[in-house]
Amino acid sequence: MLQEHEIALAPLLTRQSVKALGDVGPTAAEIDAILHASVTVPDHGTLRPWRLVVVEGEARRAFGEALAAAGREANPGFTDELAERLRSKAFAAPTLIAVVARIDPDAKIAVWEQVASAACAGYAITLAAHQLGVGAIWKSSPHQEGEALRRTLDMGPADQFLGWVNLGQIPVERPTSSRAAVDLTPIVRHLGADGLARVAG
Ligand SMILES: Cc1cc2nc3c(=O)[nH]c(=O)nc-3n(C[C@H](O)[C@H](O)[C@H](O)COP(=O)(O)O)c2cc1C
Repeated sequence: MLQEHEIALAPLLTRQSVKALGDVGPTAAEIDAILHASVTVPDHGTLRPWRLVVVEGEARRAFGEALAAAGREANPGFTDELAERLRSKAFAAPTLIAVVARIDPDAKIAVWEQVASAACAGYAITLAAHQLGVGAIWKSSPHQEGEALRRTLDMGPADQFLGWVNLGQIPVERPTSSRAAVDLTPIVRHLGADGLARVAG
């Protein structure tokens, strides 16, 4: 990659998820800025097919309970230990933003496009946080469905819960390792005029 391109694309190229977050969350103004950035994503038909639920402070208990309840709904033999493990996910960061794909099954835009757009909003949250110097990592649970989650996250019947983004301070002592270069060969093909997609070169 040319250096000038590396410089221009630095916000994307330097973003890294932060696993261990400090216990001071973003300010209200930072959360507001992150949310505004997240709704600029590609959105076919301008459906705004997402709902973002900000979870902070004691509200994390309710979110954790919903995660645990989803585990129990999926599996009646769910142990207390597993439930506690899911509950604790809500306390891994001071602030969480849950990402819900708000699906309108009757819209002209296909459901998969609506989910894709909502997923872009999730990515935009992580990118906006990175640009503000706020640590972020997208998380999920093995049990993402169920009545408790629907109620807690104000989800409609066709909506899909896409997980949540943990937000918090980036620890000062955090080991900084640059992202390993990704070999594009197995990923990228170029379509030839003959209609065949090939590895470049
Ligand atoms: C929808 C979604 C759910 C994810 N869930 C988890 C998770 O539950 N636990 C986890 O460690 N990483 C999860 N990840 C991956 C991390 O967010 C992160 O992308 C990964 O650790 C790679 O780090 P990077 O973003 O710096 O490349 C998830 C990513 C996505 C897109």
